Amino acid sequence: MNDLFLRAARGEKTERIPVWLMRQAGRSLPGYRKLRQKYGVLELAQTPELAAQVSEEPIKLLGVDAAILFADIMLLPLALGVSLKIEDAVGPVIDSPIENKADIERLLPFKKSNVLYLGETIRLLRSRLDVPVIGFSGAPFTLASYLIEGRPTRTWTKTKKFMLSEPQLWDALMRRLSDAVIEYLSVQIQAGAQAVQLFDSWVGALSPADYRAYVLPHVQHIFSALKERGVPRIHFGTDTGAMLEDFANVDCEVISVDWRIDLSHAREIVGKKSLQGNLDPHILLCDWPIIEKKVDEMLEDLGNRKGYIFNLGHGVLPETPDGAVKKLVDYIHAQ
Ligand code: CP3
Repeated sequence: MNDLFLRAARGEKTERIPVWLMRQAGRSLPGYRKLRQKYGVLELAQTPELAAQVSEEPIKLLGVDAAILFADIMLLPLALGVSLKIEDAVGPVIDSPIENKADIERLLPFKKSNVLYLGETIRLLRSRLDVPVIGFSGAPFTLASYLIEGRPTRTWTKTKKFMLSEPQLWDALMRRLSDAVIEYLSVQIQAGAQAVQLFDSWVGALSPADYRAYVLPHVQHIFSALKERGVPRIHFGTDTGAMLEDFANVDCEVISVDWRIDLSHAREIVGKKSLQGNLDPHILLCDWPIIEKKVDEMLEDLGNRKGYIFNLGHGVLPETPDGAVKKLVDYIHAQ
């Protein structure tokens, strides 16, 4: 068993740097692209044999040190009865976005029986892989923003208006989602996920004060509830530099940051917790000498590699050449 990732997540020094990449499953790899000609993303994720194949592909082709479950953050709202689809070149689109109390009350209670496929995929992966399997969920803010906006946004206009104008409703929605996230991740851990990552992809859109008031207590509740499950918990967000102290105060093992903050600075703020990140995924679109230089600079700035997991600052871009990713993984392994 290659447990480099788990040891680094627990803060240990490892003989080499463990590496995995957000969105390594899906996106650019050939086996995934072929499956996508026949199946939609949600259909793939809900078919354990196919989902397991997609999760396994980067282990075989790229040699990364951990597998991420092939799923999507929108599977949780789907399990709560939200009607949605993932549109090509757009992303998640909700049929009836949340606007009021009745919409929130229409969310169904979480039922394990609605996500049995997740456990099955994780069990398949555990029986076939010799690297750890990472489970994940969207964080309540990121999920709420999709449910309220109804589709991807760059401005979060409706979300912010709802959050600030209807604080009680916002709180009710965040509670519903947080309780569901706890159960959704618990199902994954019970099935064998050896670590979990909470993706708060869009929370950097908030001011630090609003983050503390409207989001932090809910995220804290999720991470505390998962503590007793005993697996490393990763807290990821983008553009969190200004709120990193609060973000890092949440009880978890690993903080994952994007490229908008130096790793040395992030390290100072997160203290004893492990650190994951943070190469700008756009760098992988450049020629190799540029990639190598950027990685060297990043690792130089990081200094001590104890409790460090290499990753990108956000997901692999769809147009990234597979060759560049493989070369990157090999290069990190040689450090
Ligand atoms: O990391 C992995 O490789 C595992 C699979 C994974 C998917 N979605 C499959 C997917 C993971 C971890 C996610 C998380 C996810 N989904 C997030 C959080 C991480 C992040 O990137 O910020 C978010 C915000 C979503 C919502 C979502 N799903 C969007 C915005 C899109 C469309 C645009 C995009 O990112 O590709 C999806 C569709 C989706 N989910 C794809 C994949 C592989 C692309 C589908 C395709 O092949 O066209």
